Amino acid sequence: MKPRVFVTRQIPEAGMQIIQAAADADVWPDELPPPYDVLADRTAPCDGLLCLLTDRIDAGLLDRAPNLRVVSQLAVGYDNVDVAACTARGIKVGNTPGVLTETTADLAFALLMATARRIVESDRIVRAGKWLTWSPLFMAGADVHHATLGIVGMGRIGYEVARRASGFQMTILYADARPNEAAERDFGAHRVSLDDLLQASDFVTIHTPLLPETTHLIGERELKLMKPSAMLINTARGPIVDQKALYEALVTGAIAAAGLDVFEVEPVPGNEPLLALDNVVVLPHIGSASVATRTRMAVIAAENLVAGLRGEPLPCPVN
Ligand code: DGY
Repeated sequence: MKPRVFVTRQIPEAGMQIIQAAADADVWPDELPPPYDVLADRTAPCDGLLCLLTDRIDAGLLDRAPNLRVVSQLAVGYDNVDVAACTARGIKVGNTPGVLTETTADLAFALLMATARRIVESDRIVRAGKWLTWSPLFMAGADVHHATLGIVGMGRIGYEVARRASGFQMTILYADARPNEAAERDFGAHRVSLDDLLQASDFVTIHTPLLPETTHLIGERELKLMKPSAMLINTARGPIVDQKALYEALVTGAIAAAGLDVFEVEPVPGNEPLLALDNVVVLPHIGSASVATRTRMAVIAAENLVAGLRGEPLPCPVN
């Protein structure tokens, strides 16, 4: 008899084929995630679970699934999964690093450019018939080329953002617990403290995982350290930035603008005050959303799942 797995959303076909060859798959058919109780019910009889960052995988859910051997997260970030609880129960956890690095760096840089050059605001003005003439300071934004970029977290994605920034002849600073010799050698990046980075950068872009120690890493104090002309870009995880403090910083002019792909609560509620600000560019958590990358992520997630079912080492293990 084939092992049973629950797949919490429809995923690209290339991943599904790998799963269906090895397991009986229960695939959640809706566009929205299964509610927590349904997720727990459907996982309970399974040997494997393929989940997304919208699914909370906690000890209570694991306790109801005595046969569960593997949790395969279709994302590189896995802050929604209680990894310690999985490990304690002998459940393997996998994720999808590497394949999404450059796609996410592209998006971070696109968001930085859009924020700096007021692309979305300009688009809105043209469509609203408010483009009256060419004039010297109409829709004038900030230069990206030759500016100073502060990268918070110089891991894989931070490194690829640095590569893009070096093409724009930017000065690159980074803050990270560990030095990244490749970024220093390849792009002339300088490692500094977070406070120094915030004070010196024209653009600050976040590329750390969400951990207890990075939750609200950027709060009121940190935003006040930034230049009034500086812009904050977040494509990592929403809770790394204190969103209320960010709103205050944007309306009081403590910083100039923000580009956000991620939010403290997702989907961001329609009444979120940040959404009313012209100096904020917002996206719906699409950092890795290219067809090719999402397909590669599905394949890795499927391979992790199948390896876990077979008791083999996962190609991309978390624990
Ligand atoms: C991840 O993989 O963690 C991303 O946030 C999904 O795009």
